[in-house]
Amino acid sequence: MVEAMERVATGLDAAAMMPRVLGRYSPVTVERGDGIYVWDTEGNRYADFTSGIGVVNTGHCHPRVVAAIREQAGKIIHAQANIFAHEPMLRAAAELTATLPSSLNQVFWTNSGAEAVEGAIKLAKIATGRPAIIAFRGAFHGRTHAAMSVTSSRVKVRGHYEPLLSSVYHAPFPYVFRSPYKGPAEDADLAYFAELEAMFDQLVLPEDVAAILMESVLGEGGYVVPPTRWVRKVRELCDRHGILLIMDEIQAGMGRTGTMWGFEQFGVTPDIMTVAKGIASGMPVSAVVADRGLMDAWAPGAHGGTYGGNAVGTAAAAATLQVMRDERLPENAARMGDLLLSGLREIQADHPVVGDVRGLGLMVATEFVLPDGAPNPAAAAKVIEACLAERTLLLTCGTYDQAIRIIPPLTVTAEQIGEFLGLYRRAVAAV
Ligand SMILES: Cc1ncc(COP(=O)(O)O)c(C=O)c1O
Repeated sequence: MVEAMERVATGLDAAAMMPRVLGRYSPVTVERGDGIYVWDTEGNRYADFTSGIGVVNTGHCHPRVVAAIREQAGKIIHAQANIFAHEPMLRAAAELTATLPSSLNQVFWTNSGAEAVEGAIKLAKIATGRPAIIAFRGAFHGRTHAAMSVTSSRVKVRGHYEPLLSSVYHAPFPYVFRSPYKGPAEDADLAYFAELEAMFDQLVLPEDVAAILMESVLGEGGYVVPPTRWVRKVRELCDRHGILLIMDEIQAGMGRTGTMWGFEQFGVTPDIMTVAKGIASGMPVSAVVADRGLMDAWAPGAHGGTYGGNAVGTAAAAATLQVMRDERLPENAARMGDLLLSGLREIQADHPVVGDVRGLGLMVATEFVLPDGAPNPAAAAKVIEACLAERTLLLTCGTYDQAIRIIPPLTVTAEQIGEFLGLYRRAVAAV
């Protein structure tokens, strides 16, 4: 994180104007963006391999998204959803559900990831009449009180905010690279699953559990891909006990993993899905998606909000979903992800400080290790700094900031991936 922030070409002092809680990864004051690039107020160009934390999957300022926003802003901006229906929110819901299995057919629009998670938890409770939620260690679901209660990616997100939501239980997520279990790595998922099941013997009765909440791929917690067998067993466990499976697709969804939704990678379908970030290319839009029968558990007025389904935001969402389909961005993510992963594995082979290269599509990370295998956040920080010096923006992830996530917009080209791999190799070699 950048501590000192210089006065920049705006003439405004960022250090004085921005609260400390916004720890920043770069000193850049940005002016505009186009595709994978952004330009600062002095005209310098940076390659954005953060996508604004996995948001601008269609690239910065995609012309079709910009046109949809401009056009809608000239018609009506705020058409409150309890008062009006409007075309953009209906179109965006139709575009969104068209990408989903038939059981995910109704959309409740919200404004941020955390708000969608709050909504999903409330829906699961009201639909089942049960009190408890099981979440996973290392997961990140947001910063409002309920979302924070199901989050454990790092303690600073929840520390000093107790008491948190009660009846939340945390099971271990299969982070096989750091598995404490003895035995063959390919069977570690069975040990993780046994721990989850044991919760029903030791901590909470299954008939008290409303939902199991999981990220299809762990995001902030380190870009950890769970084994398919484990995900399927979690789905079966839910079915066995009448527990709803909530998949948080906020970071892994919208084409990022090389399929439209992360859960498709494992051949399961959740009962409730949350989506945000990439859904509207940067407009603050999110949603809870479920079957209509399930959504009906919410009587009129049992949940709501002033801004959900904002007309300009959902116009951007509809355009984003159309761009995603027309430009086959998930497919590009799969192809570019393969290039990226194989290039990173070559770097790993030459540099043992890279302990793990993992990911799906363009949801990719490298984890840095000390010679004894312990997390090495200092190496990750140095690599980020070296890349910043070459005008390429990156973010860490993982409890200790021991991993670097590499998440360009899904429009990235093979040439841009090649350029990135060249500078990343130089940065890793310099550690
Ligand atoms: C998986 C996941 N869920 C929820 C959230 C919270 O989203 P927001 O910051 O929009 O509240 C995030 C944000 O990083 C996320 O990655």
